[in-house]
Amino acid sequence: MKRFPLVLLSLLAVILFFPISNLIGLQGKNELIPVVLQSSEGYNKVSQIMQDKCVDCHAPGMLRKPFYSAFPIAKQLMEKDMEQGSARLSLSIKLFSGEEAFTPLMLARIEHVIRNDSMPPAQYLAMHWTDSLSADEKQIILAWIVEERAKSLWSQDAAAEFKGEPITPLPLKIELDADKVSLGDKLFHDRLLSGDNTLNCASCHDLTRGGTDQSKVATGIRGQQGPINSPTVYNTMYNLAQFWDGRAKDLQEQAAGPVANPVEMGALWDEVVEKLKQVLEYQDAFAKLYPAQGLNKTTVTDAIAVFEQSLVTGNSRFDRYLRGNTAMLTSDEIQGYALFKTNCTSCHAGPALGGLSYEKMGVKRDYFKMRDGELTEADNGRFNVTKQEKDRHFFKVPVLRNIELTYPYFHDGSVSSLKEAVRIMGEVQLNKAFNNDEIAKMEAFLRTLTGEYKGKSLARLTVEDIQ
Ligand code: HEC
Ligand code: HEC
Ligand code: HEC
Repeated sequence: MKRFPLVLLSLLAVILFFPISNLIGLQGKNELIPVVLQSSEGYNKVSQIMQDKCVDCHAPGMLRKPFYSAFPIAKQLMEKDMEQGSARLSLSIKLFSGEEAFTPLMLARIEHVIRNDSMPPAQYLAMHWTDSLSADEKQIILAWIVEERAKSLWSQDAAAEFKGEPITPLPLKIELDADKVSLGDKLFHDRLLSGDNTLNCASCHDLTRGGTDQSKVATGIRGQQGPINSPTVYNTMYNLAQFWDGRAKDLQEQAAGPVANPVEMGALWDEVVEKLKQVLEYQDAFAKLYPAQGLNKTTVTDAIAVFEQSLVTGNSRFDRYLRGNTAMLTSDEIQGYALFKTNCTSCHAGPALGGLSYEKMGVKRDYFKMRDGELTEADNGRFNVTKQEKDRHFFKVPVLRNIELTYPYFHDGSVSSLKEAVRIMGEVQLNKAFNNDEIAKMEAFLRTLTGEYKGKSLARLTVEDIQ
């Protein structure tokens, strides 16, 4: 009890001091960061705004440490802000000096907080009101984001007026070794890759079903139910890593997994390699394409990975819109896109509208409490890989290309309607209850993301088209 008055006293002191320090400018400007002249005037302004208003919580090691940080409570609060803030956006000296570029993910997150007026945090502004962003400053930041994005390779196919969008069109053509693509295609569809020759990759990643099995969870060898929903294989080259929890670093590493997984293809790699070696066509193809290594696990998974890189579904209606054909979208779809940009692109950005980061399922509300059923190991998400508590329930953000075909939704496949998935996202990620009109418009927008494979819309692709 003796500590109590002391705590109260310092709280009072902090409360009193914050506004005073604000008024008389005791906080001081940050002198630690050299202002290096950038190529653009916009950037210099943004750099200054961020150094003035954001670094306290977003630049580890650059804390201005105002004198009141010595008060125990203020210090704790600031340390917590710094930890949480810089986990989401880390502003390093190299960014300010221009040695490093802001990544598309950083730009998407910054755009989100500016559009939603959520930074600096309201609690902080209550005490540092001079640190709120003015309308001018917000415009400067948004204009700079457009400028940065326009420099990126991703936006090169976008029409001039859309180069600054958080979502960029998929390329219409990808340069790959055509022979490896066709070898990988054959392997992807070959049942010899499973233990009892019943399953191929396409069993769970049917290219005519949006690259999925359209089932709640995967069904593996001998009818075994897997623990998790099959994600699409289309546009996976845009993922920062593979699997819902990111446990495979790339497509090649990923492809080794299902073959040997006892509840998926249930095979032994040595046996698969032996089986494939019996096939004359494979003998020839591997001798030609991998002369030094021949046919082995590494070359088989390499060919599959090259094939998967070809699974890019360009030319959706939305992409044609971004390329400048603005008549492609209805006004509802355009309004849906506007809602999506305000609410969703901090996580679903980039060419595939996802795959750039791991995010918590349930940022604002506990999704798992709302859902029926017990918690499963798969629900742990990224935690299963890192074993760090901070990663529990984090998942790689799924790509939203062709989303109308990749139902049911979420890692647990628990939701079959796209509208319902959008509603849940609003609730658990943003704590927003969208009305039916808003949900319908966002859904309409999402349905414009269905692209083409082999020159045909995925919505109409048949088995004959892909043979
Ligand atoms: C008082 C500390 C504080 C200040 C000042 C502050 N932030 Fe933050 N920021 C946080 C914290 C804490 C989080 C993480 C929790 C959250 O998102 O609310 C965060 C999160 C963010 C995120 C990530 C949002 C996401 O998608 O998760 C961005 C981007 C961001 N801040 C930008 C800024 C910018 C730009 C400024 C300056 C204009 C700024 N912040 C000033 C504390 C701060
Ligand atoms: C029995 C069903 C099944 C089979 C067969 C199967 N997969 Fe999968 N695949 C899944 C499931 C389920 C996941 C998600 C697993 C996870 O994240 O833990 C997945 C994940 C993936 C991913 C990661 C996508 C992403 O967004 O993270 C790729 C790529 C992939 N599979 C390709 C393949 C290839 C290539 C084969 C054949 C060698 C194959 N799969 C065979 C069910 C299957
Ligand atoms: C904080 C990051 C974040 C925000 C904001 C966010 N999402 Fe998501 N979204 C995710 C994650 C993570 C998942 C995967 C969750 C899971 O499977 O458990 C997901 C899944 C989805 C899915 C299902 C995809 C699939 O293949 O299963 C849809 C659809 C979706 N989001 C749409 C939206 C829409 C629309 C918005 C805006 C209203 C939105 N998201 C906002 C992170 C986010």
